[in-house]
Amino acid sequence: MSAETVVAYEDSFRSSSAVREYADGFGGGMFMSALWDLEKEALARSQVLARANGKGSYLDFACGHGRVSGLLAPRFTSAIGVDISEAMVALAREVHPTLTFVSGDITASPSVLDGRSAFDVISVFRFLPQAAPNVRLNVLRKLVEHLAPEGILVINNNANRTSALWPALVTRSVVRRESVRQLLNRRTLAHRHLERLLADLGLEVVEVEPASYLPETIARRLPRRAWLALERRLIRAGIGASFATDQVVIARRISAS
Ligand SMILES: C[S@@+](CC[C@H](N)C(=O)[O-])C[C@H]1O[C@@H](n2cnc3c(N)ncnc32)[C@H](O)[C@@H]1O
Repeated sequence: MSAETVVAYEDSFRSSSAVREYADGFGGGMFMSALWDLEKEALARSQVLARANGKGSYLDFACGHGRVSGLLAPRFTSAIGVDISEAMVALAREVHPTLTFVSGDITASPSVLDGRSAFDVISVFRFLPQAAPNVRLNVLRKLVEHLAPEGILVINNNANRTSALWPALVTRSVVRRESVRQLLNRRTLAHRHLERLLADLGLEVVEVEPASYLPETIARRLPRRAWLALERRLIRAGIGASFATDQVVIARRISAS
């Protein structure tokens, strides 16, 4: 068994090569760019998000190179993206020169957002399943603190364990003769677990939109157009969104009565 170097998730996008590699994944005709098309469609279907359009303030947490900010920020009166990686923020500023991005860790330093809080909408994409459980919880707590009463949190769970992803990971693990520990170390987040976490923090899930159902291992074997067509059929078929491998979960902060 080869030794695995474990890099904390918050450190995995610090180098400019990791940032370039991540951003390039969305540029070509490859899996990530097709998945982003499906995620954009999921966001466009969200009625809760549509109602929030045109007003209020928006925070994109762990904004990366500004993929989600670029799409959502123009809908709000004010918007800011924050990321722990300075290299990511530098690229986000380059790609979206008219938007505001800051670097820092809002879980450790309250001054990162320069006193800004009570956001009407906060997004967190491609982050929660990959973060270690304690980081996930700290981040969610902080995001709730930064949310306005009845503000909404737009979460991308891109590795929902209660989907075809889990059998695919088990199969891959068996084929590669991995240990059970290696399998369990794969970063996933079960939909129900996410719902429970959110409920414990005073958030109510108000909408779940599926982005994709097929696990990456299968999707990558299909031609892009065939994969997208199949996903769109599955979405139209109305399979429960809580079984999507990649989903957009929208939760509202319940205001204290
Ligand atoms: C997979 S990228 C996702 C970027 C973007 N949300 C997207 O969907 O394209 C994860 C991002 O989380 C950032 N990150 C990790 N820990 C963080 C933290 N504590 N605070 C802010 N950003 C963090 C990383 O630097 C990285 O840019």
